[in-house]
Amino acid sequence: MRLTSALLFSAIASVSAFTAPTPHAQVSRLNTQLHVAAETKPLGKPGTAKLDTDWKDLGFEFRPTKSNLRITYKNGEWGEFEMSEDPYINVHMGATALHYGQACFEGLKAFAHEDGSVHVFRPDENAKRLQSSCERTLMPVLPHDKFIEAINEVVRDNIEYVPPYGSGGALYLRPLLFGSGARIGLQPADEYTFIIMVMPVADYYKGGLSSPVDGILITDFDRAAPRGVGNVKVAGNYAADMLPNMRSKKAGFPIGLYLDAATQSNIEEFSTSNFVGIDSENKKYVTPKSSSVLPSITNKSLMKIAEDEGLTVEARDVLLEELETFDEVMACGTAVVVTPVGSITKLGETDEDTVKYTFGESQEEVGPITRRLYDRVRAIQYGEEEDKNGWLYKIN
Ligand code: PLP
Ligand code: COI
Repeated sequence: MRLTSALLFSAIASVSAFTAPTPHAQVSRLNTQLHVAAETKPLGKPGTAKLDTDWKDLGFEFRPTKSNLRITYKNGEWGEFEMSEDPYINVHMGATALHYGQACFEGLKAFAHEDGSVHVFRPDENAKRLQSSCERTLMPVLPHDKFIEAINEVVRDNIEYVPPYGSGGALYLRPLLFGSGARIGLQPADEYTFIIMVMPVADYYKGGLSSPVDGILITDFDRAAPRGVGNVKVAGNYAADMLPNMRSKKAGFPIGLYLDAATQSNIEEFSTSNFVGIDSENKKYVTPKSSSVLPSITNKSLMKIAEDEGLTVEARDVLLEELETFDEVMACGTAVVVTPVGSITKLGETDEDTVKYTFGESQEEVGPITRRLYDRVRAIQYGEEEDKNGWLYKIN
């Protein structure tokens, strides 16, 4: 068994040495005419597409755009980019993604700046995390440069769908990589498909920064095992969360917080995002460090900003009992950005057993540190604050 894995890994490693094409080269278009050499096509203008709603009223849902990008892995190598206008894919019914969950995805955003340029936030980090998800599930890694070129290509082609500067929205990019080849015995596929779909979005939780969400502690299910797959962005993690997530929402709690599976005593993360607690008096930014938490790119960025703001960042085990010591709690991630959490309830058998942790003076208002961190990360993303750390990738 071990030998098989080693052989597969070495095959995969040789795939990552595949040389990527130059930007905009060799792009073909499915279902439409062949793509005219994109180098010569001037970049369009963000916010000029016709939507079925106003840019200011966007939520977080699927919306058709001009195109999606696809790359297929066959015979041991990744092919060329293909642009498609079809939201459907033709997949073999024996695909390993469908049966065995050999699938992972990413989430990142493109922002329009005041001068009309468009910038993607930290795509390098998503390229790396996608690779770690692939390695964990024995899928071939997509070479880093190819990922970045694909991001550039798909945003370029859908630039009209990037919400205009000032609307508060962003173009959400959802890269997805899965085993599309058929296998019926339990083993990795020999064919894979990589897709990037894009859509204009705004707030994930209704009201965004202005309305703190009520959270619930999920005590009857675990999200991820200590040596499982919680630290990579694989599809199965989200399947495991569907039931607890829907139950939480039905009970009136839009966001659910998981504890560690082994001891149920440490805070792990929310279904959609990382957990951050603020101790205002001691100026501390506290976030769980665990092998079963997804390493959030937003959290990593906020930690840097928090240090810049003079906060002490503590990434460590965070005990459930510590909840009552936080003055502010936030959920952070690409989709949720920085979402204030007003309260977290631990339901008991009876009302007397139920504990509700509340944060800040009022559960209706966002705390000052949450607001400051939100404002700063947003200002960088929208080009209003200098990008000192080189986090933005400009679409060209
Ligand atoms: N945790 C989970 C479970 C997530 O799904 C996400 C979203 O991607 C995050 C955390 C936040 O990660 P990031 O900031 O990289 O989007
Ligand atoms: C993201 O933030 O990009 C995610 O993938 C989270 C998802 C639950 C919407």
